[in-house]
Amino acid sequence: MTARAQIGVTGLAVMGRNLARNFARHGYTVAVHNRSFAKTQSLVDEAGSEGDFVPSESMADFVASLARPRKVVIMVKAGAATDAVIDELVPLLESGDIVVDAGNAHFPDTIRREEALAAKGLHFVGTGVSGGEEGALNGPSIMPGGTRESYESLGPILEAISAKVDGTPCCTYVGPNGAGHFVKMVHNGIEYADMQLIAEAYDLLKQGLGASAAEIGQIFAEWNTGDLESFLIEITADVLQHVDAATGSAFVDVVLDQAEQKGTGRWTVQNGLDLGVPITGIAEATFARALSGSVPQREAARAALRADATPLQVTDRAAFIEDVRQALYASKVVAYSQGFDQIAAASAEHGWDIDRGAMARIWRGGCIIRARFLNRITEAYERDQDLALLLADPYFTDAVGNGLAAWRRVVAQAATAGIPAPAFSSSLAYYDGVRADRLPAALIQAQRDFFGAHTYRRADREGTFHTEWSADRSEQEA
Ligand code: 6PG
Repeated sequence: MTARAQIGVTGLAVMGRNLARNFARHGYTVAVHNRSFAKTQSLVDEAGSEGDFVPSESMADFVASLARPRKVVIMVKAGAATDAVIDELVPLLESGDIVVDAGNAHFPDTIRREEALAAKGLHFVGTGVSGGEEGALNGPSIMPGGTRESYESLGPILEAISAKVDGTPCCTYVGPNGAGHFVKMVHNGIEYADMQLIAEAYDLLKQGLGASAAEIGQIFAEWNTGDLESFLIEITADVLQHVDAATGSAFVDVVLDQAEQKGTGRWTVQNGLDLGVPITGIAEATFARALSGSVPQREAARAALRADATPLQVTDRAAFIEDVRQALYASKVVAYSQGFDQIAAASAEHGWDIDRGAMARIWRGGCIIRARFLNRITEAYERDQDLALLLADPYFTDAVGNGLAAWRRVVAQAATAGIPAPAFSSSLAYYDGVRADRLPAALIQAQRDFFGAHTYRRADREGTFHTEWSADRSEQEA
């Protein structure tokens, strides 16, 4: 076996298979391996003409077919399956080789694996890959972590197969150990928020206009020509206009209204809680999925809970559509602003030194949240790389500020009409909360001190204090 392959892929389900084809189509000699050889064989049979594949039946042959330093991409299910492949692979590798986990791993697992492999002299690169099957084949957004040294030899290959926007690859070095998978996790959290906001906009348009799914699809198609232009808006237009072949009804009307998840949104929210970063848009989106799946509770509530709502009365349809568009845009900016806060907080905690502007840049193409407005985010972080709050960047203060009245109208109308719009309304509450001169958190601190002597700080001088609530109410410095 000559060690001639420049990169290898093990795990040839659809994502791995498409990544392998993408490497091959870019002129790389690709070693391919799968637990069952049938998948390897079918890849070579069906896509062999696209490039230079080196198939192997055993892991040992697969490793032996790779030129050094070996670069092995693992594309299997996150969790135990990834550990099993790593355990099989590692004894066959030599110092300086690079193991790339391109699955949706939980970043603490990546940190653990990186440490274990580093101790053996190996590089472990946990990388986010976004864009689904299509992206894997034609150009995904790639978010690699690991050592800088590994990026020197691996980075050019990943950049070559990534999506390009204005000639710039949607791939860059993210940061050490778990940074790449962390950024991918936040990407997915933002994806959840984006999808929930779109769903709320759809629901408001449906109930406000009494419009059909297809008509709303056309509104989304129109929105996709402006500031909201993005993959998710584009596919929403498409999905809403799709007709179910079996019934002739709008497809969306025959789909069960219970949203599922594989767990990356949940991880994002859990991490937001750990870091104390208010990622309310992502959290509302994740909980909205959970609510939709709460079948017994929904049944009980449907039968028992009063609405006392006033149905939406839309007189000016065009104005209402524009209000919903503005509310969607503003809420979306909030979700991204919060997601970038989360990246900044984790970066500081783990010493990752993540460049947020670069993350927005590599999300412009290839990935699920690709959108025109990511350019604006990159520009904002180019203006000030230590920007404390994305919403406070002058471009976004204006963009959101100009739609604020519409946003307030939409949230108020939704509440009056009894239409759930959790992400719209909590994003507005976040906006008002974060810009408030003074918050009622002062009262919470006073209550905590009252019942638990938890102490408080004063606005007028330094120090930590406690009031003797059950005695003479004198104040002491704690
Ligand atoms: C991507 C996606 C992908 C994710 C799916 C499903 O970037 O290509 O984020 O990684 O797994 O979108 O996610 P849920 O099943 O959790 O909705």
